[in-house]
Order: sequence, then C-alpha cells, then structure tokens
Amino acid sequence: MFTATCIAPVNMALVKYWGKRNEELILPINDSVSMTLDANEMCAKTTISASESFKQNRMWLNGEVVPFEENARLMRCVEGIHRLALANGAHKFPLSWKVHIASYNNFPTAAGLASSAAGYACLVYTLARLYDLPMNEELTTIARQGSGSACRSLYGGFVHWQRGLSADGSDSIAVQLAPAEHWPNMHMLILVVNDARKKTGSTKGMQLGVQTSALIQHRAKEVVPQRVKDLMAAIDARDFESFAEITMKESNQLHAICLDTYPPCVYMNDVSHAIANFVHDYNETVGSVQAAYTFDAGPNACLYVLAENVPRLLAAIQLAFPNDASQSVEYLKGIPVPPVEVKNGLRDVSIGHVNAKNMLKYIIHTKIGEGPKQLSDEKSLLIDGYPLTK
Ligand code: DP6
Repeated sequence: MFTATCIAPVNMALVKYWGKRNEELILPINDSVSMTLDANEMCAKTTISASESFKQNRMWLNGEVVPFEENARLMRCVEGIHRLALANGAHKFPLSWKVHIASYNNFPTAAGLASSAAGYACLVYTLARLYDLPMNEELTTIARQGSGSACRSLYGGFVHWQRGLSADGSDSIAVQLAPAEHWPNMHMLILVVNDARKKTGSTKGMQLGVQTSALIQHRAKEVVPQRVKDLMAAIDARDFESFAEITMKESNQLHAICLDTYPPCVYMNDVSHAIANFVHDYNETVGSVQAAYTFDAGPNACLYVLAENVPRLLAAIQLAFPNDASQSVEYLKGIPVPPVEVKNGLRDVSIGHVNAKNMLKYIIHTKIGEGPKQLSDEKSLLIDGYPLTK
C-alpha cells in the first residue's frame, strides 16, 4: 500500500472569478487574483492510499461516505492525474490500483466559508504526491476541473488565475504573483454572519449570470483586465490603499452582476451591507484606508487589514457589532489580538440601520499563508486504508 497525506489552504479572491465559458472544463470568462490564507487557521487535510487489494475507489468527507464514481468533478481530477502519471512514467505502482480518500476541513463548513477550493486543491496535490508528480502549472489545470477557484489554492501568497485562450483549457493556469513573505503583515478578519437563507450556489449563480446578465460580458472584457494590472502593481508596491480600493470595487461589482442576473442572486444580507458601510466609515474616521472588505457567494465579510492595524479595527468592530460572547475563545478564533484602548472617535462609526447586537456568529483572525504541504505518515487519516473514526 502507498499513502500520502497533505494539507491545502483556503484562498480569498481579490479580483473575482464569476462566469464560465466552458462548464465541463471549468474555463472562466475572466482572469482572477487571490490571496492564500494561512493553513494554520483554515485548511483541508487529505490522505490518499492506493492498494492492489482495494476493490473500488472510495471517499470519506468529514467522516461521511461520499459518492465517488458518480462525482464527475472528482473523477476528472483523478483521471487528469492518471494522464500526467502515465506521461511522466515514474509512478511506483500500477495506475489500475484503486484509491481510498479521506478528507477533512479544519474549519466549520456550517459557516458557509468556501471549502471546495481547499478541498480540491488538497485532493489534486495529495494525488500528485502519491504518484510522485512535480508541483507545476499542469497541476493547476487539474485542480481547476474540480472547482475553478481550487487552482489558486495550489500556491501561497498572491495568485493569478489566467483565463487562457485555448479551447482545451491547457493555458487556463494559476501562477504565483508573489510569495507570502512579500507582504507578510497582510492579515484578514473574517466576520461570520448569522444567516439562515438558502442561497444559489456559485456554480449555478455564475451560470445564470452568463445567461442573463447584460453587464457580465462588459465586466469580463473591459473592467477585469485593467483591474488585474492595477492590482498586480499595488501588490508589487505593497500599496495598501490601491489594493483596498480595487478589492472593494471588485466585491461590489460581483454583487452588482448578481443583482443584474435574472432572477437575481442575492448573497449579501443587511448585516453584510452594514459591514461594508462600517468599513467605509471606519476608513474615514481613522483618516486613511486601513481596511478593505470582500464578499463571495454568501453574507460573510472578509476584511483585509495590515497586522499593525488589526487591534484598532477589531476594537471598532466590537463596538459597532457588540456580541454577548465577544471576549470568548469561541467568538474570537485564530491569531490572538492584543486588546487596545479605543479612541472616542471610533464610537461614532455608524453601521446603518440594522440592530447590531449579536449579528456576527464569530470572527476568525488569519493572515496570508503558504501553499499545500505534505505531512508525515503519522498524520494519516487512514489506517490500513480505512478512516480512523469509521
Ligand atoms: C465567488 O470555484 O466555487 O468565490 O468553479 O463552479 O466550482 P465552481 O465555482 P467556485 O466559485 C468561486 C466564486 C467566488 C469568487 C472567486 O473565488 O473568485
């Protein structure tokens, strides 16, 4: 039996991927840029074993059995890796051997935080380790076919998914723009918002957008190319103000496209909008742009903020969105933040008209991070090819 265990990080888009030109190959209509988050706070962990004795491919996700052969995206990833292994010729066991896969997310899926990107990146990376394949751009084209945004989780730091032009998707790859060390004090506060509504998933939402939005093609052709260039320059120069402005405008445009979709897809709720207002008011109150929000296909806010500005921003959030549990470890997760004395002015930061008490479920403090990593054998989620728990 051969086994490999790896972890892969979550990434958060700055310039958003929204809309496909090929549903099966998962080819996007525009480029996107993301930041990889520290795997210490949030990651997917996957163990894959291959054995001559396994009768069929099997998978367990967070301890539950999940269908394998019927999952087209999963099968595309496995077949993609088999193709590379065949071309590489160096694999140490026959490709006909079946695999057992166990995967966990170390962050609550109930929070509605995207887990598919880390999950598919981890799957593809772990398969590559199992078959002794090198980490390269080709792997990103395989992870992309699991979930588009997964291709960006194969690198740390800042990552650019180039849409590519070819029909077969061979040039729709992710590349690293800068490693995490380039801007190590880039931190993030994730505000997890209470919300019970059922929402349209990203896959369906962007499909409807391409079919019905009059704005989406304008965005892909005219807006995104310039924004990618400007954002690359801002990252290169570690220019937080420009970085923040592009990021917030991008988030706003994604949700404008969603509203322009018919029927509209509404992902942000009143609390999300209150957080966006709060960030603008906060920046105005402190006299410079120190925080930037971004929202994906859900109501949770991700706030980019430099490490030195985290305590003050967090204190202002605690004032604007008070919570009965505000000092507990269940409420404030992730990297510890030293308490600060809040200046009076911040008390006036307005948050709109929502009843702000207990509007946030919890807050995660995290930062920029590295790409996937292989772990030692004792970290395995499988024993003799079967999950530890079941
Ligand atoms: C809003 O990668 O989840 O997070 O390719 O259909 O699996 P599929 O979609 P997915 O979409 C992510 C969309 C987004 C923006 C982004 O991450 O760029």
